[in-house]
Amino acid sequence: MPRNADTDQEPWWITNYRGRNPLQRYSHHNRTKTRRTVDFYIRYLSLEPNQTILDLCCAFGRHTHELTQRGFPRAVGVDLSADMLAHAISSDAAGGQRPRFLRADIRALPFENASVDAALMLRSFGFLDTTREDLGVFEEIARVLRPGAFLGMDHFPPHSATTKVGTRVLEGPAATTIVRTTWDPATARLNSHMSTRYEDGRVDPLRSSSRLYTPEELGAMLVEAGFAVQGQFGGYDGSPISEDSTRCVVIARRV
Ligand SMILES: C[S@@+](CC[C@H](N)C(=O)[O-])C[C@H]1O[C@@H](n2cnc3c(N)ncnc32)[C@H](O)[C@@H]1O
Repeated sequence: MPRNADTDQEPWWITNYRGRNPLQRYSHHNRTKTRRTVDFYIRYLSLEPNQTILDLCCAFGRHTHELTQRGFPRAVGVDLSADMLAHAISSDAAGGQRPRFLRADIRALPFENASVDAALMLRSFGFLDTTREDLGVFEEIARVLRPGAFLGMDHFPPHSATTKVGTRVLEGPAATTIVRTTWDPATARLNSHMSTRYEDGRVDPLRSSSRLYTPEELGAMLVEAGFAVQGQFGGYDGSPISEDSTRCVVIARRV
């Protein structure tokens, strides 16, 4: 397992997703939002049914399942967490169609150069310790995408951090999570400490730290990695990105 060079501890993006039932903690993701997100990408990535589409950092596979059910049988969910993938695999498959799920690190994707038709990476960028490492993720995605293929991703811009700072309580069906979030302008990182209390009284302390990039910074990194930015939006309603947008949705094309 990869380790933080500084602390010799496993990074949060491994420990947070191990040995936990995501459906107990994340029931606040509803199907309507997932559908809307997938609608958006079907349109803006010009997805076609016979294409190989990667759902990178798929977690429990809600977008992979939705894509499969919507007639994209070659959607593949990729995630590093065996536990998340176990939930993804055991989720109900509508119409008998089961997506393919693959355990892999997005920094070293097990795909040939230029062999993939499209990729999604949702709510999963900025986890690594340095900008150089985050750029490496874009470079790896660029390696596997064929020229002309699209990447769709979303991200929270730094100014949206103020909307996330504070304490939130997330009620899941079998667990309650208290999230305390702070923003560090010096490192542009959003840091959270979470405490999940399960029905049996068990309490799980977790933390996370994500680097937030401005739309301009994301665009520059994508260009450096071999993409052209086709569009940036303020949300899945297709609204234009603005200074007030609390989300940045990016469509990039492999050049
Ligand atoms: C916030 S969740 C993703 C949520 C999901 N895309 C969705 O919108 O429902 C982050 C996921 O990224 C995965 N992950 C983190 N780092 C990874 C890496 N280097 N390679 C593959 N998966 C990774 C975690 O295991 C976790 O399931």
